Amino acid sequence: MSLTPVNPDRVITVALIGGGTVGTQVARLLTETAADLRARVGAPLQLTGIAVRDLGKPRPGIDPALLTDDSMALARSGADIVVEVMGGVEDARALILAAMEAGSSVVTANKALLAADGATLYAAAARHGVDLYFEASVAGAIPLIRPLRESLAGDRVTKVLGIVNGTTNYMLTKMDEQDADYAAVFAEAEALGYLEADPTLDVDGHDAAAKAAILAELAFHSRVTLDDVYCEGISKVTLDDVHAAQKMGFVIKLLAVAELSADGSGIIVRVHPAMIPRDHPLASVRLAFNAVFVEAEAAGEMMFYGRGAGGAPTASAVLGDLVAAARNRVTGSVGPGESTYSGLPVLPVGEALTRYYVNLDVADRPGVLASIAAAFADNGVSIQVVRQDGHGDEAGLIVRTHRATDDALRRTVDTLRELDTVKRVVGVMRVEGEVGE
Ligand code: NAP
Ligand code: HSE
Repeated sequence: MSLTPVNPDRVITVALIGGGTVGTQVARLLTETAADLRARVGAPLQLTGIAVRDLGKPRPGIDPALLTDDSMALARSGADIVVEVMGGVEDARALILAAMEAGSSVVTANKALLAADGATLYAAAARHGVDLYFEASVAGAIPLIRPLRESLAGDRVTKVLGIVNGTTNYMLTKMDEQDADYAAVFAEAEALGYLEADPTLDVDGHDAAAKAAILAELAFHSRVTLDDVYCEGISKVTLDDVHAAQKMGFVIKLLAVAELSADGSGIIVRVHPAMIPRDHPLASVRLAFNAVFVEAEAAGEMMFYGRGAGGAPTASAVLGDLVAAARNRVTGSVGPGESTYSGLPVLPVGEALTRYYVNLDVADRPGVLASIAAAFADNGVSIQVVRQDGHGDEAGLIVRTHRATDDALRRTVDTLRELDTVKRVVGVMRVEGEVGE
């Protein structure tokens, strides 16, 4: 039984900008599931065109009559919904703004544009009374944007902690499970086609940072852009770090963290490798999967898990948005707009309260431990655990701290580097997700 009466006279037109990895799958699902979509929306969805760059490229399963290389004409065509799965910032923004000006609602997967200039898109959507949906922009198939934007709209989110880049999670999983070094896992990710065309977007954390900005803005109802996000990638993660983590019962993940500051006066948004306990729910997120852990005052802890990339998984999220935007067209309503009423400032990462692991190559002689303990104490950082590895020339110390500001921890590491009892600072990494945080 169809709950929504279908109006055969109302057709929802859809223009697709981009016919690549995601766009091809959106077009396929629109065709293959047309009957279901019609019943769910209450009107049929009709694909009116697909804009691509190269009309000569073979595109199996795509009706050639739908293809155009005039993306601006398609954006301005006045379709009910324009789906932007082309990518990039400048051209995509121009196309989305033109589409909204023509009265079209927009569904986009474009994290780079949203993180750079979401405010302009929201403002245009409000001005023209159209929808802006972007579920696919963060964590692919995983429903995360709608839960933050709608389901948790009655709660107060305090922290978002997630693995939002599948490629780096794949690489770190391989380092951990197969004892492969960074160069080897990079080559493997490249061979599998996981890396972005510009691999630094993955390995230097910029892709995760864009997603962190989008999540933080929604979670804390405050404007956050890519430039606000502190960002460190995984290229300096060594097998020494991986082994040290293993010895302590931890695993290394590239985390995106958005949280309220201790006094609630601002938010801190950061992307960096971190050690998390092996019994933390995020530790079991392996290979290219994504997961986001959300803490909210009333709801408590929640975890969202699934495929963060790939044509079909990402298209699933796009189709969900398409149905939402199409239903709004049928009923003459619009979905949620921008919510930045809190206006919380984004604070420097130095104010984040975190824990560190510090791996030191030290001289093995009396007084070494005292000098190292003093370096921590002088900077106001309390030591949680010290573990000694080896003797003589092989002497090493692994120190884990209690929570302190990131600034204090950095100062401590600077002090340690100056000590003549410390031969080398082998590794430094933040520790997240321990009980009591
Ligand atoms: P893609 O495979 O590179 O496809 C991009 C498509 O856009 C291609 O069809 C390309 O045409 C077309 N295009 C590029 N510039 C154009 C222009 N100026 N005018 C008209 N068409 C143009 O990219 P994708 O992987 O599908 O990603 C699309 C978007 O989804 C991006 O914003 C990406 O960040 C986001 N996303 C992707 C994934 C994923 O797993 N792939 C996951 C989440 C989000 P040609 O085919 O002729 O080259
Ligand atoms: N490069 C991204 C990743 C693609 O590895 O997660 C999905 O956004």
